[in-house]
Amino acid sequence: MRSTTIFRLLAALLPLVSPQGVSAAVACTNKFTAVTAANAIKALHPGWNLGNTLDAVPDEGSWNNAPATPALLDQIKARGFKSIRIPVTWAYHFDTTSPSWTVNPTFMTRVETVVDQALAAGFSVVLNVHHDSWVWADQTVAGANTTMILEKFTSLWSQIGTKFACKSSSLIFEAINEPTGSTQEHGDLLNKMNANFLDVINKAGGFNPQRVVSLSGLGQDILKTTQFFKRPTTYPNQPWAIQFHYYSPYDFIFSAWGKTIWGSDADKAALEADFDMLHGNFSGVPAFIGEWDASVSSTEVAARWKYNDFFIKTTNKYGYSAIIWDNGDDQYNRTAAFWKDPVGIDVLFNAVAGKGNALADSTTDINAASQNTSAYLWHKVGAAVTDVEVPYILNGNKLSGVKDSKGKTLSSSDYTMSSAGVLKLSKSYLSTLYSTTTKPGAIATLTLSFSASPNLTLQVYQFATPILPSSSSTYSLNSLDAAVDLHIPITYQGLPRVAAIRALREDGSILVDDWTQYLGPLQKGRMTYGDWGFDDKGLTVWAAGVAKLKASGGQGVRVLVEFWPRWEGNSVEVRFTV
Ligand SMILES: *[C@@H]1O[C@H](CO)[C@@H](O)[C@H](O)[C@H]1NC(C)=O
Ligand SMILES: *[C@@H]1O[C@H](CO)[C@@H](O)[C@H](O)[C@H]1NC(C)=O
Ligand SMILES: *[C@@H]1O[C@H](CO)[C@@H](O)[C@H](O)[C@H]1NC(C)=O
Ligand SMILES: *[C@@H]1O[C@H](CO)[C@@H](O)[C@H](O)[C@H]1NC(C)=O
Ligand SMILES: *[C@@H]1O[C@H](CO)[C@@H](O)[C@H](O)[C@H]1NC(C)=O
Repeated sequence: MRSTTIFRLLAALLPLVSPQGVSAAVACTNKFTAVTAANAIKALHPGWNLGNTLDAVPDEGSWNNAPATPALLDQIKARGFKSIRIPVTWAYHFDTTSPSWTVNPTFMTRVETVVDQALAAGFSVVLNVHHDSWVWADQTVAGANTTMILEKFTSLWSQIGTKFACKSSSLIFEAINEPTGSTQEHGDLLNKMNANFLDVINKAGGFNPQRVVSLSGLGQDILKTTQFFKRPTTYPNQPWAIQFHYYSPYDFIFSAWGKTIWGSDADKAALEADFDMLHGNFSGVPAFIGEWDASVSSTEVAARWKYNDFFIKTTNKYGYSAIIWDNGDDQYNRTAAFWKDPVGIDVLFNAVAGKGNALADSTTDINAASQNTSAYLWHKVGAAVTDVEVPYILNGNKLSGVKDSKGKTLSSSDYTMSSAGVLKLSKSYLSTLYSTTTKPGAIATLTLSFSASPNLTLQVYQFATPILPSSSSTYSLNSLDAAVDLHIPITYQGLPRVAAIRALREDGSILVDDWTQYLGPLQKGRMTYGDWGFDDKGLTVWAAGVAKLKASGGQGVRVLVEFWPRWEGNSVEVRFTV
């Protein structure tokens, strides 16, 4: 007994004093159920990322989320998610007082606690090395010391491999998140890192030789992974999978250049071609998507439902499991414990189950001059109250009923649904919700239920064009500071969101990203992600955007701020003068 204790002590201590993988292997006393990589990856679907938590810089709790709790994990489990990816940034937790690169034991224990809680809750767990990839492990910065990167990475995985050696087969190690780089040289170092990772976790012992691992290509990007990733040749019995991340198309996912629509045949074909490229290069290798996310904060509702539906259908087709990213503001509100778009999550699960989702129709034509969405019924102040038609894509479903905000079932005289999916709400019913003079804002949420699809919500809004105070309708470019964000107060009259902003010089030319002239009327001249944002008080032009306005070549700039619905005229103009 005594010698076993000493052996365990040594096993725990040796990696700390000699982190290069020469330590004695951990011996485990518990049982391990070996699984194939294919089955382990299948079991991840669908999963959820504990984002902006243990990966926050410098500490858990430093960003927008409180430390993880077992209650949070239980809530995610209760919603049906099968796996949790736990991103961990180790960069700020190396013990500076010890030799080498020793992880602070308190932090290591904290990570173990969260991993244990997730395993105890019944999840498959993916544990990784996260933002380290843009701190000490970034090989693309000038003067990067690749010897140090390789040594530190190897030491880190030797320690993680030792600490977690006896965990169950539900724990997957992911070598590194989104490693930077774009060249063969970068790819070569990463391949070496992957090989060293396999080496030290194997040498750490325990169940690691049978543990499923997730290897990374540059950026965990499909194209770069196909270009530079080398399959491991050492440890041929190690079950492994390839992981990639998917945030495409960028402009839709990040609400850039006015792309608030998604779902055309071309959009779908582009997504499928990406998945197919990975599949073609990795046939026979289990693959999964460790991050993807049409965020509730930045995508239009009906377009997001379509995206979730098609995205998951396509992951099913290729056998890619998918773990949704959630930074704490994207999908699940952790403090008040609710899904920000419960329908979007329902659509996701229904697609995982292989069932056809009824979907709200929405504009997909890139040449459209205005945008419609059946997630909303918009009524403009002053407009006559009439029958309204709202189109759906039924995908084999039948409408079984409609309820109002209070849960009361609408009567058959209140609406009809055509076999083509057009819901017609009667003027007499709509008159009970709004008149020409009803105050702008949210009026009601109708819930449509279907034969074999999740319920869809239809939000009824009365709207008028938002009000820009005269004091904020004109700014002098010279008096703006290019290092300071500009807040422009707006009184919304309807949905409190900005949809897009367009910037034209006084002569009508496009101020930034001139190539957007080739896009449709909803996108021409629109500014991108990172230039602007909004909240319920108005628009913010971020410093980066202010700098672009100031670099107008001596001309004034007219900024068109567009709201929902994106119908002609539902916008205000802010002028920037020289
Ligand atoms: C690079 O890192 C290695 C390993 O830590 C170290 O020995 C070497 O001195 C470093 N080189 C430079 C130029 O800092
Ligand atoms: C593999 O990836 C490359 C891009 O790096 C792509 O051109 C090629 O079509 C892919 N191969 C297959 C068989 O899909
Ligand atoms: C979560 O919801 C609460 C209550 O509605 C709200 O106060 C809080 O700001 C929300 N948090 C996030 C990150 O959206
Ligand atoms: C959007 O809806 C409005 C109001 O119902 C209608 O006038 C317009 O033609 C629609 N636009 C598109 C592109 O369907
Ligand atoms: C969907 O709507 C039906 C009918 O209104 C209701 O009975 C059911 O509870 C709803 N389902 C969900 C998940 O909200």
